[in-house]
Amino acid sequence: MKNTLLIVVVTLLLPAVARAQDIPPHIGAILKQIRAADKDQLAVSEEDGRFMRLMVLSTKAKRALEIGAASGYSAIWIGLGLKETGGHLVTIEYDKARAAQAAANIRKAGLSDIVTVVQGDALTEIPKVSGSFDFVFCDAWKRDYQKYFTMVFPALNHGGVFLAHNVINKGNEMADFLKTIRTDPRVVSSIVSPGSEGISISYKR
Ligand SMILES: C[S@@+](CC[C@H](N)C(=O)[O-])C[C@H]1O[C@@H](n2cnc3c(N)ncnc32)[C@H](O)[C@@H]1O
Repeated sequence: MKNTLLIVVVTLLLPAVARAQDIPPHIGAILKQIRAADKDQLAVSEEDGRFMRLMVLSTKAKRALEIGAASGYSAIWIGLGLKETGGHLVTIEYDKARAAQAAANIRKAGLSDIVTVVQGDALTEIPKVSGSFDFVFCDAWKRDYQKYFTMVFPALNHGGVFLAHNVINKGNEMADFLKTIRTDPRVVSSIVSPGSEGISISYKR
């Protein structure tokens, strides 16, 4: 009876323990704080964040770009992946106050050497980022996705991935982009939904 009880307790506790140890506690606390302060609900869901870290790790991405940082929630998840691959992220945010918050949150997370926040309009800032990318995460205004895809595609490495957020819950705002990723023979695309908003992943052949 005692043994059965012990097994039940351990089994119930294991997922929580594994999840808690999965990221450093101080980063977990910062992520929670960002979500608590995120009144406009701009940040991706925790599951989407976890998925992006996994994508960085599984593709062994080193050079990453994010379009739309808000307060740095998704950038921290991407940064956690890049910490293990030895990579670097440039994240671009138009809003001055949000860009400052993102930089402060990333500093608190101890990821300033991995994530650089650029304040400005992505449409003018992207061409100034030198080099090519293995991983791109697009999460700015939805009607601009096609423009970002066209702009970034030449700098996306073969074997690199272009991810876009809200492709399920805001798909009607990006019909041109969705048509492109479904029909352009240069990419292989799929849509997943770790949270409920949907993420497209387009692999460049
Ligand atoms: C949905 S939020 C990003 C959330 C963030 N990726 C996260 O999960 O924590 C979209 C952000 O894109 C920014 N944005 C919109 N258009 C932009 C542009 N042209 N250049 C840079 N940032 C832009 C907005 O200011 C907003 O903060």
